[in-house]
Amino acid sequence: MKLTKKMQSALVMDKNIGLFKCPICSVEMEIEEQSRLVCKNLHSFDVAKSGYVNLAPQAHSTKYDKSLFEARTAVMNSGFFGPVLENIIVRLDNHLTGVECPVILDAGCGEGTHLQAVHSRMPVGSVSIGIDLAKEGIVAASKAYPGIIWNVADLAAMPFADSSVDAILNILSPANYAEFNRLLKPGSIVVKVVPESGYLQELREAFYDGKQQKEEADPVERFREQFDAVETEPVTYTFALPEDLLAPLIRMTPLTWNAREERVREVLATGMKEITIDLRVISGVRR
Ligand SMILES: C[S@@+](CC[C@H](N)C(=O)[O-])C[C@H]1O[C@@H](n2cnc3c(N)ncnc32)[C@H](O)[C@@H]1O
Ligand SMILES: [Zn+2]
Repeated sequence: MKLTKKMQSALVMDKNIGLFKCPICSVEMEIEEQSRLVCKNLHSFDVAKSGYVNLAPQAHSTKYDKSLFEARTAVMNSGFFGPVLENIIVRLDNHLTGVECPVILDAGCGEGTHLQAVHSRMPVGSVSIGIDLAKEGIVAASKAYPGIIWNVADLAAMPFADSSVDAILNILSPANYAEFNRLLKPGSIVVKVVPESGYLQELREAFYDGKQQKEEADPVERFREQFDAVETEPVTYTFALPEDLLAPLIRMTPLTWNAREERVREVLATGMKEITIDLRVISGVRR
């Protein structure tokens, strides 16, 4: 019998059931009938047909919708993030040597393409979990990438046990370091990716005359306050943009959320040959 996505996902969750805790009352959970996660106080969360579970106690609406995540998938599957992902994978490889079946969690995973790319390069038996508050991202991730645990959840209150995770990824998403520290085993690694000033500068030039958007106050300093053995490295390159990726590139980023439709049409008509990726990869180890 061919396993459905739902059965496949229920099996992976069952095998790793010790990772979960109820998002409402914090006690352990079980999988019932390959269909739902249930705690002993009978809080119950269905496994959706595509295999994800919504473990966010309240519904959240975010500005990240289905079309944005489709656009992100198109762009991310083009090799756009290749050097960044390589950088992340090297850090994970170095840190996880000797860890059997490491558990890797992507906090704010969006539509899941980065986590899938990382997961496919980890040793057999490693477990990957992607969480995001935007349900549309998790739906897309679970449809595209079975074999990974996908949950709608808030990264500030994750439905997982203390000291249960070997690595946390946090790519272009908000962080909650108290929660990351709660989940990480001592000595485990966090890898965070933040934008630098040149990130997507051609889009900024096209839509805002190159003006900077408001940035978070020094993310590296904040990171150093929380973690040991901090390593930080810029990853900067120019990506030759295939013509058919300009529209999804404009659609995928919050940078252009306030852009006028007319300006979007003008930029599409003019075209954009290349785009700058200017990111910083920061990693550190739980104290
Ligand atoms: C710019 S996107 C990055 C997504 C993905 N990491 C990527 O690089 O393609 C930021 C993501 O953070 C998620 N996010 C924002 N606040 C969150 C929260 N409190 N808990 C979980 N996810 C959150 C958003 O839903 C969105 O998917
Ligand atoms: Zn409960």
